[in-house]
Amino acid sequence: MTEIRIQKYIRDLTGISLRRTEELISSGRVVVNGVKAVLGLKIDPDNDDVVVNGLVIKGEKQIEYVMLNKKSGYMTTRYDPNNPKTVYRLIPDKYAHLVPVGRLDIDTEGLLLFTNDGNLVYRMTHPKFEVEKEYYAEISGLLTPSEKSEIEKGIRTDNFRTSPAKIGIIRSTNSQTRLNITIHEGQNHEVKRIFGYFGHKMMYLKRVRVASLKIGELKPGQWRILTSKEISELKNIN
Ligand code: URA
Repeated sequence: MTEIRIQKYIRDLTGISLRRTEELISSGRVVVNGVKAVLGLKIDPDNDDVVVNGLVIKGEKQIEYVMLNKKSGYMTTRYDPNNPKTVYRLIPDKYAHLVPVGRLDIDTEGLLLFTNDGNLVYRMTHPKFEVEKEYYAEISGLLTPSEKSEIEKGIRTDNFRTSPAKIGIIRSTNSQTRLNITIHEGQNHEVKRIFGYFGHKMMYLKRVRVASLKIGELKPGQWRILTSKEISELKNIN
């Protein structure tokens, strides 16, 4: 249930200014579920009846999609007004009701989608849809051809198993390898664990793509709403 302050709800739905809305409430001309509303009352737009000046107002639930290039140092966790280091500090407060689709580690950068489209969250995170997630990674040491092929086939040990992944090496030296890796699972710290299994330390990790959605030119800490083309492409996941 998403709750919203009565003043904001009326303003957003009717375009009446916040000041005028407050006057209407104070003068008893706003009624919620048959009871006169007070300033600051929180309502559930999906279930509460709101009457302003004798007229019922009702809005379609607005479905919103925001993408963030997460900065390192921020936790992917629920909105918490007391924690200055959650990803919600990187997007405007008006999006505090949206949920992040999947998680990125505190030191990982890159694409994090926020939405209130529950159906999309389900399809993007449930393993059965095998949604691709692509990362750019810088790891310590040289990734050998046999390590690369083991990762591509899927690692199989008693306590660590991964599905087949795709790897594209960008540049490799004895001290560092830069690469792109595409996985479709979402195990905790999966990319770090894949390379850690072979003794490679993760120096830098950035998610660059989820399904058809790409981070593009968005800089760390920047956000934007999705285009209608991006939204309709994401809805094709099946
Ligand atoms: N894999 C990781 O190890 N960390 C992330 O943040 C995402 C995928």
